[in-house]
Amino acid sequence: MELQKPRGTRDFLFKEMKERKLVENTMRKVFETYGYQEIKTPIFEDLSLFTLKSGEGIIEEIYHFQDKGGRDLALRPELTAPVARIYLNELQKAAKPLKMYYFGSCFRYERPQAGRFRQFWQMGCELIGGKSPDSEAEIIAMAAHCLEELKLKDYQIHLGNLGILRGILSQDSVSADQQDQIMALIDKGDVEELKKLLGDLKLPENSKNILLKLVGMRGHQDIIDKVKNIIKDFPDALESLEELETLLEMLEAFGFADYTVNLGIARGLDYYTGTVFEIYVEGLGAQKQISGGGTYNLIEIFGGEKVESTGFAFGFDRVMGALKIQETSTQVERRVDVFVTPISSEMKLHAFEIAQNLRKSGISTDVELVGRKLKKTLSFASNSGARFVVLIGARELEENKLTIKDMESGDQEQVPLEMVKDILLDRINNKE
Ligand code: HAM
Repeated sequence: MELQKPRGTRDFLFKEMKERKLVENTMRKVFETYGYQEIKTPIFEDLSLFTLKSGEGIIEEIYHFQDKGGRDLALRPELTAPVARIYLNELQKAAKPLKMYYFGSCFRYERPQAGRFRQFWQMGCELIGGKSPDSEAEIIAMAAHCLEELKLKDYQIHLGNLGILRGILSQDSVSADQQDQIMALIDKGDVEELKKLLGDLKLPENSKNILLKLVGMRGHQDIIDKVKNIIKDFPDALESLEELETLLEMLEAFGFADYTVNLGIARGLDYYTGTVFEIYVEGLGAQKQISGGGTYNLIEIFGGEKVESTGFAFGFDRVMGALKIQETSTQVERRVDVFVTPISSEMKLHAFEIAQNLRKSGISTDVELVGRKLKKTLSFASNSGARFVVLIGARELEENKLTIKDMESGDQEQVPLEMVKDILLDRINNKE
């Protein structure tokens, strides 16, 4: 029987795990610099948490099952709904704004392809109880900061505001459900179906043309005036556009101006209300969206008070993919700094003891465990990236000495046993 991993899942081996850990830690550091604290939620939740307002697309993709007690459960497809639940369960009285971040796997039953998996990871954050556009500006600047820290080049941050399109539709009495259907088609980029649906809904010709025009509009601050002119008869839409304009001004104060205004962003999830943004890396092809987020009202939908909330999530696997194609070196740490080996088998127990002492001083250390001959041990140590090999010989040990071999230069020197730890610490730190 050939055992295979499930479709759309992956195994990560040593090098890849180290690269992922480095990227994860870089993102964590940036989130924490902005005052976010980490939370963890269950991998599975009640199915209803995700069916209330996550949007049809997501619901179709949910992995759901009944447990032995007959409860309908789902593997989480995302983490915003779980965070809204935590807020309602535990944090309603906490001082606001509340800043939380998470790193965890999500599950969506999608057709697997490059950059699209059934189990994937998100590193994301939610800011609950802030005010827009102030909190939105900070969050977008933080997303850009993460990518700068990772030295990712060639990414584009696209910004929009759903209130513009929804403002027009509401003024023409299009129901919330129908608006969600329209947004889903815009998100898919399915213009033909969109035209058909707008026709079926008997939207005034003028509104229809305006919507189709807006969906295709991209630019910088300069397009704001053009859009103002186009939507001048739609007061709610104008208000959202002004909110977007203020956001752009604030972003400059946060030191970030490299955005594209994109009024065609609709997002695949139904809980967004105002500002939305997506980050793309063109080289990734069809799955180029490495991050998405915006302002949403999930907490109110779940029965809480109206609390303004904003957040985003990096598709962690896509960020890794983007770093790979741009050949941005995520410096891989070596496995161990030191390899301890006895020269003869009688020295084995001494080798264990010395390795253990080094580890207790914080030096990453391997010790020969399979009784190889010295030549083979040295080659194994070299392949595992050890910088130093500590050789333990019977005659030297009688004189309380050991040999340290520098694997880069090949130099060897005898050192007193009691000084080994300090010498190695000093050299390792100087070589960083
Ligand atoms: P989302 O856009 O559905 O938003 O997912 C966030 C990111 O996860 C996407 O931009 C994409 O990079 C990645 N992603 C989605 N599906 C897959 C997949 N099948 N394989 C690999 N990567 C994938 C959300 O989930 C929102 N909860 C984000 C948010 C947080 N909004 C407010 N706060």
